[in-house]
Amino acid sequence: MRVVSGIQPTGNLHLGNYLGAIRNWVAMQETMTSEGGECLFFLADLHAISQPHVPSELAANTREMTAALVACGVDPSRSILFNQAQVPQHAELQWLLNGTARMGWLNRMTQWKDKAGKNREGASIALFTYPVLQAADVLLYQATHVPVGEDQKQHLELARDIAQKFNNDFATEEAPVFTLPDPIIPPEAARIMSLRDGSAKMSKSDPSDMSRINLTDDADAIMNKVKKAKTDPEPLPSEKAGLEGRPEAANLIGIYAAMAGISVDSVLSEFGGEGFGKFKPALGELLVTKLAPINDRFVHLRQDRNALDAILRAGAEKARTLAVPTLEKAYAALGLVRG
Ligand code: TRP
Repeated sequence: MRVVSGIQPTGNLHLGNYLGAIRNWVAMQETMTSEGGECLFFLADLHAISQPHVPSELAANTREMTAALVACGVDPSRSILFNQAQVPQHAELQWLLNGTARMGWLNRMTQWKDKAGKNREGASIALFTYPVLQAADVLLYQATHVPVGEDQKQHLELARDIAQKFNNDFATEEAPVFTLPDPIIPPEAARIMSLRDGSAKMSKSDPSDMSRINLTDDADAIMNKVKKAKTDPEPLPSEKAGLEGRPEAANLIGIYAAMAGISVDSVLSEFGGEGFGKFKPALGELLVTKLAPINDRFVHLRQDRNALDAILRAGAEKARTLAVPTLEKAYAALGLVRG
């Protein structure tokens, strides 16, 4: 089994990022270590240039995200951790796959339609071909499994279509060039919402810092943010159904459940009937206990640029070694002469 997944580098990492992709990756790494599989995790910095960006911020965010991943438990000695830009085989394979991907397929991608909006003529070509690069990311390594959020399922199906067409057109059934990857979509990925508004996603770009728990927050900041989190005056219900129409309460309970690794129902069986005066301190304590070691590693590592660059360099070297054979097979299959 080979697991491959990518994440776009962003700064100001928060609880939503941790409980979203990052924690899943760490869990995949544990599974693969015990089952003899392999994990490749990368910063999708090449994808980041598909939309307007500030170069100095991209570089800083790439390092910041690397620090966060390692702080949260992605172990560079057990998983291959790198950024795309140091593995030119991603961009090379994308070009080769551009001959196989169809305009019609890409035109149907919902992320393209959403992000380009009404201004398709002004969107970058990179935004349009973004899913072809994503296909190259996983096909390059013969990935068998790709952990992604629900929103990336369509891109994974496209990667399978590209792989299948390429194999059909340019390879034999006995010796296919690419493996068809399966998506792994976490069952009920906790959607972490703003602490100030239970209907908005927790976000790095919310102007209020009180709306999110940052990976850089210390214990006092966490306790204070939880204490001030928006709630309603009702006591907590004893069952999940009672959270309907109470987005702030549902969010705090969901955070507790995700952090404790238990179900929403078991949180409610413990706190049902209690007010927030009792629940909030318990949630604050839980967050502080679980996040303190992560925070500690993160604040140290994020300022150690040499250490971060060394991690990415070493990861990229391993990734290049794994990438070359498949890339060469693709060149040869297409009739491209390589000395
Ligand atoms: N597009 C993905 C996202 O926005 C990130 C990504 C890039 C990715 N390449 C990938 C995810 C390959 C899985 C596999 O979340």
